[in-house]
Amino acid sequence: MLTKEKAKEILSNFPQKNILVVGDLILDKYLWGEVERISPEAPVPVVDVKKETVNLGGACNVAWNLSTLDVKTTIAGVVGKDENAKILKNLLDEKDINTILIEDENRPTTEKTRVIAVSQQLIRIDKESKEKLNDEVRNKLIKELETQAKNFDAVIISDYGKGVISRQVIEVFLNKDIPVFVDPKPSNFEFYKDITIMTPNRKEAYELVKAEKDTPLEEVGKTIMEKLNLKNLLITLGGEGMALFTEDKITKIPAKARKVFDVTGAGDTVISVLTACRVSGANWEESAILANLAGGWVVGEIGTVAIDRETLISLVP
Ligand SMILES: Nc1ncnc2c1ncn2[C@@H]1O[C@H](COP(=O)(O)OP(=O)(O)OP(=O)(O)O)[C@@H](O)[C@H]1O
Ligand SMILES: [Mg+2]
Repeated sequence: MLTKEKAKEILSNFPQKNILVVGDLILDKYLWGEVERISPEAPVPVVDVKKETVNLGGACNVAWNLSTLDVKTTIAGVVGKDENAKILKNLLDEKDINTILIEDENRPTTEKTRVIAVSQQLIRIDKESKEKLNDEVRNKLIKELETQAKNFDAVIISDYGKGVISRQVIEVFLNKDIPVFVDPKPSNFEFYKDITIMTPNRKEAYELVKAEKDTPLEEVGKTIMEKLNLKNLLITLGGEGMALFTEDKITKIPAKARKVFDVTGAGDTVISVLTACRVSGANWEESAILANLAGGWVVGEIGTVAIDRETLISLVP
């Protein structure tokens, strides 16, 4: 059982911890407007934009979650040589997130724009490259990570499959015995051998090992662990909570029933809380219980939000 006292003790260590996030950086943009007419050019609505907002997305959302928990947070990734790179850097600075940004003039800063009118998303427009990094950019990133890796208690790999994460990136940390926490992209399965833990959702877990739909979850989890030589695995199960696989057992952690407003970003919250707790003296089960409480809380809030320590402690029964 995890008591409130124990949770407080674990969370009190967060401000002394240094966590690095490496992954695909995304700038989320929102154009809020009104539809007044159908375009004379094509059968589509014309949106009159009233407001534009920007948000940290992808790996940046993981970093934002950590910094909101008062963890000393650094993010590493690749941006384009463009205006969005500056916007992203400013947002990260505002949230007290240290940055290791490698500029690549051959790709844009990943941008996802949603056009929202009459309270509904009309379209999403993505600007991105999913190509692997070229040798020069990749080497620059690796060199930087090699130099700075030892400053961190753990690294979170936030792989959205846009090309920043490679086996080489992960090996930088494995070679230095730094715990590696991974939110995986199933198609990059072979990158994740020997890592500390990964946190796929149910769909990703099945995709990782190309399991049939009727395969029991326990079997899927065990296969992932065997194939990748993992000692730990956390499969998130949406409204059903999560399943924690360790060397000797499987623990089901049920979700607290909550009215769901916005499920986006729950996975980012889970890996952030899990990592921060684990490096702060919690065991795997305690870390997963706290991550589950945090995940359940964020889906009940409107919009993508991050949880702070006080709120997280208040959720512990
Ligand atoms: N409907 C829900 N009720 C309560 N908790 C939930 C609900 N949906 C998600 N959660 C919490 O969030 C965690 C992660 O959710 P999920 O398995 O959907 O991850 P995900 O698909 O990776 O999310 P994301 O969309 O952010 O990538 C769950 O393990 C649970 O703790
Ligand atoms: Mg996810």
